[in-house]
Amino acid sequence: MQPPSACPCRGGIPWQGVLLAVSLLTFWNPHPTASLTIQPVPADVAEGRDVLLLVHNVSKTTAGYQWYRGQIPDRSRLIVSYSNLTHSATQGPAFSGRETIYPNGSLLFVKITKGDTGFYTLQVATADFDSEAATGVFRVHGPLTPPHLTASNTKVAEGDSVQLVCIPNDTEISIQWLFNNKTLRITDRMQLSLNNSILIINPVLKLDEGEYHCQVSNPISSLKSNPITLTVIGLMAQPSLRATNTEPHSVAMTCLSDDPGISITWILNSQTLQLTDRMQLSPDHSTLSIDPVRQEDAGDYQCEASNPASSTRSERYRLAVISEERTPGLPVGAVAGIVTGVLVGVALVAALGCFLLHTRNGRYPGFPHLIPPQVTPGLREGDPSSDSGLTQTSPFPEDPPLSPQPPPVPHQLLALG
Ligand SMILES: *[C@@H]1O[C@H](CO)[C@@H](O)[C@H](O)[C@H]1NC(C)=O
Ligand SMILES: *[C@@H]1O[C@H](CO)[C@@H](O)[C@H](O)[C@H]1NC(C)=O
Ligand SMILES: *[C@@H]1O[C@H](CO)[C@@H](O)[C@H](O)[C@H]1NC(C)=O
Ligand SMILES: *[C@@H]1O[C@H](CO)[C@@H](O)[C@H](O)[C@H]1NC(C)=O
Ligand SMILES: *[C@@H]1O[C@H](CO)[C@@H](O)[C@H](O)[C@H]1NC(C)=O
Ligand SMILES: *[C@@H]1O[C@H](CO)[C@@H](O)[C@H](O)[C@H]1NC(C)=O
Repeated sequence: MQPPSACPCRGGIPWQGVLLAVSLLTFWNPHPTASLTIQPVPADVAEGRDVLLLVHNVSKTTAGYQWYRGQIPDRSRLIVSYSNLTHSATQGPAFSGRETIYPNGSLLFVKITKGDTGFYTLQVATADFDSEAATGVFRVHGPLTPPHLTASNTKVAEGDSVQLVCIPNDTEISIQWLFNNKTLRITDRMQLSLNNSILIINPVLKLDEGEYHCQVSNPISSLKSNPITLTVIGLMAQPSLRATNTEPHSVAMTCLSDDPGISITWILNSQTLQLTDRMQLSPDHSTLSIDPVRQEDAGDYQCEASNPASSTRSERYRLAVISEERTPGLPVGAVAGIVTGVLVGVALVAALGCFLLHTRNGRYPGFPHLIPPQVTPGLREGDPSSDSGLTQTSPFPEDPPLSPQPPPVPHQLLALG
């Protein structure tokens, strides 16, 4: 084979011939220490924008350049050639009409399309019949469309779990999570799926309440999803039920709850209380008054506090009603007794005890027949009639049993005559 150096290429032979010969030479003996580099500016291009493939460290004695699509100099994918001898450019089969080559070898691409993503190889032929090649790559990114965010539930009880799913419409994106417009701090209560598209919070705490977005990003832009506002409904404390005899034949029960925004319903013997015309509810339903009390009102009362996520009932309070048949002439007499469950807060028992002691001291002569609560040590101490905290005691041995049914829970009795 005739060596390329014998070719009088500086004369009439087209410069492309030199490049071909140099190209062959390159494959026989690739340049081991090529410092030629291609720098795409920018490396990530928005669709429709331009990119410049800058050439660095090109040889001082350049005879010409050839730009190819792909990672190797493949003649069928030649875009354009440039002769440093004739200072002219020649289009190749892969020329699209949007490429411009400069005398320094750099290639300008305008109106980039997604299909332009990929590798580009420059081959440089030097005047001394050497050649070197370098490859650069750029990516084209289309405009993003907003991802769609869904939640398994937007009102979650504290302690429950919630799953947020980000559904992107684009590919080759990464997913981030935002909480109140800031990057979500992932805690050990949170799990992300491998590609970040699913966020599970378990258990949910009050501090997780707020606005969530997912965001899709590529190297040139990012876009937020629709917002999801997560409401965390705090666990409710059990309400407490306090009862007082307002008059000998009437009773008022008050439901006490620390939680705001609750609604209160009343329960009698585990069923929703059917209000009669002798019963009255305060406007917020926290107080139930029965006046006058009748035998049919006897039973276990509870109040139930509810919010949109949960509800909880107070301890049972037993209302015992005793018909006073012993005193002929009096209208249907009644003794209303309030029975409290043993788990009632100490403060409440103490309050009742205070009331009882005052009464026993004769401060309330109209209410002579109090039976003290029997779970309170302080009261039991001063009360010789209390032998057991769990049994009912009546001041009237001849009376019928105070309770029409066996007590389902340990209880104590406060009866007023
Ligand atoms: C080469 O020429 C282009 C066009 O004039 C210019 O933008 C670029 O900075 C030059 N330099 C290199 C290293 O490509
Ligand atoms: C040009 O070549 C020199 C020596 O090989 C190298 O240090 C330098 O980083 C190169 N420049 C670029 C832009 O690649
Ligand atoms: C080829 O181009 C380079 C860079 O633009 C220039 O320095 C050099 O003089 C040119 N060589 C010839 C033979 O024209
Ligand atoms: C999803 O992307 C396709 C193109 O990739 C587009 O036609 C469609 O409108 C997009 N859908 C939404 C909901 O943005
Ligand atoms: C987040 O930002 C959007 C506007 O970009 C605003 O409408 C929204 O109220 C912000 N949300 C929060 C929780 O700050
Ligand atoms: C993320 O991974 C899940 C399954 O692991 C898959 O269903 C979903 O399509 C993936 N989403 C993206 C954006 O890759």
